[in-house]
Amino acid sequence: MHCHHNFRPNHSCSDLIITVINKGGLEVHIAGEDMPTTEERLRDLRNRKAQSEAGGGQNRVDAQHNRGKLTARERLEILLDDGTFQEIDALVEHRCRDFDMDKNVIPGDGVVTGHGCINGREVFAFAQDFTVYGGSLGEMHGLKICKVLDMALKTGKPVIGLNDSGGARIQEGVASLGSYAEIFFRNVRASGVVPQISVIMGPCAGGAVYSPAITDFVIMVDQTAHMFITGPEVIKTVTNEVVSFEELGGAMTHGSRSGVSHFTAEDDESAIQLARDLCDMLPSNNLEKAPTKKTSDPVNRACDKLDTIIPDESNKPYDVVDVISEVLDDNGFMEVQADWAQNIVIGFGHLNGHTVGVVANQPKILAGCLDIDASDKAARFVRFCDAFNIPLITFEDVPGFLPGTNQEWGGIIRHGAKLLYAFAEATVPKLTVILRKAYGGAYDVMSSKHIRGDYNVAWPSAELAVMGADGAVEIIHRRRLKSARNPEQERVRLTEDFNEKFANPYKAAALGYIDDVIEPSETRTKLARALEMLMDKEELRPARKHGNIPL
Ligand code: HXC
Repeated sequence: MHCHHNFRPNHSCSDLIITVINKGGLEVHIAGEDMPTTEERLRDLRNRKAQSEAGGGQNRVDAQHNRGKLTARERLEILLDDGTFQEIDALVEHRCRDFDMDKNVIPGDGVVTGHGCINGREVFAFAQDFTVYGGSLGEMHGLKICKVLDMALKTGKPVIGLNDSGGARIQEGVASLGSYAEIFFRNVRASGVVPQISVIMGPCAGGAVYSPAITDFVIMVDQTAHMFITGPEVIKTVTNEVVSFEELGGAMTHGSRSGVSHFTAEDDESAIQLARDLCDMLPSNNLEKAPTKKTSDPVNRACDKLDTIIPDESNKPYDVVDVISEVLDDNGFMEVQADWAQNIVIGFGHLNGHTVGVVANQPKILAGCLDIDASDKAARFVRFCDAFNIPLITFEDVPGFLPGTNQEWGGIIRHGAKLLYAFAEATVPKLTVILRKAYGGAYDVMSSKHIRGDYNVAWPSAELAVMGADGAVEIIHRRRLKSARNPEQERVRLTEDFNEKFANPYKAAALGYIDDVIEPSETRTKLARALEMLMDKEELRPARKHGNIPL
């Protein structure tokens, strides 16, 4: 497609100045017939803007709609409050001369960038336009994204990227790869300074996936979004595996198998709404606190339901999400990565109006054991909350780390250490409620007092021990059991004895390892009061370039 400007199609700004000087001065031209009138200049500007807005043209817009996808501008309209979007760089053009690209210049270069508001708070956003060269990222397209990332960092505002792109623009070669790396560098520089959210709304392939991967949250649209390093064709050639786009890198795959994505949305609109909701929970940058949310839910509301939620039998499961939502304001809980590593639950909510991050073992999946994926999932979440001043509430019911060669050979030692590391380095308010089991190393890891939990309490059902009674009796009483006249009877007696000694919170309370044993129905009130007390907490770790988390 050619770019048809209204006048002087091939003159850049500097061409014009040279012409004026050559002809001997400005006056000649003001009087001259080839100088445009004000009206013509305005018309020209509007034409240029209209051309930028038209993107790849109606046919490609129709094709986009037929795929169930919105256009870049339609998406931005949903993302930002009415009338607040201010575009920048609408007139940027690519500089490629190869493959006849100079005859195909579309102002805007396939990405719409700018800033606007989400519920009155300023954010930066970019939306790749699949109707222009398949949303592929060339040199200038990439630099437009860099500009908003730079502005976001300078002004301390979140960045939301709406991704829909065929990847590196093939015609632009290494210039395209260069711009990708410029983006990656800025994503890393902004990490932990401003929240970064990626919404994947089409293809996102090859190295292009690394920008979303570095950002804090990835939202994928079911069926239309695909992320992969190498596509089905390449995989077929190299490994002989046959796999569809959807199975390889669709929203379900990344939401439940790989853990790459944090949220799955059923269409463009709900994906963007999710990004808005998420933004509402977060501060604009690492120097701010999250905005508070008004609630009419009384802070001293008794959670009577919680008094009976723990089954009498210690091995029976229950759903920890019921505990979380009962405690939070208006029972509101925004679960993150709900379909992946379900043995741990993470997400956001409010307590007495403050945004809090929740981490909870889930007894109904793998008995709430910690494993490789659960450790990775929770560790990254804890670090996000810590970076952005979001207090952490931990609900603990963990029988330990998951046994097995898969886990050991997969490196549970270094993965589990990440969670320990993340909780220990976090200086935000840390509140921990031990609901039931707190066994072994997992007791230490789950925001225990020893790694600087600020308010640690337990329910009367709590069991704090090196391990469960059965295992413990087997080990410490092996000889006695062997020589017993009636080993089974002896085993029962010793197990009961062990449970009486350790399957309760009072040893830990006596040592001050927990600050209190509370009635479950008081949990909301106690946590809210402790949170108020801790909101101005300041704690420092030694100055250093950065720690060395066992990645
Ligand atoms: C230039 C591209 C393009 C690309 C698509 N287009 N991808 N142009 N560079 N990478 C153009 C097409 O020529 C076409 O132009 C328009 O976009 C729409 O593409 P279609 O193929 O018609 O659409 P569709 O059938 O929906 O397929 C979409 C697609 C496919 C799956 C994305 O186009 C595709 O496979 N593209 C190549 C993807 C790729 O291999 N990219 C490089 C990945 S590696 P017209 O004018 O006909 O509308 C990578 C590395 C990043 O990105 C490195 C970072 C470090």
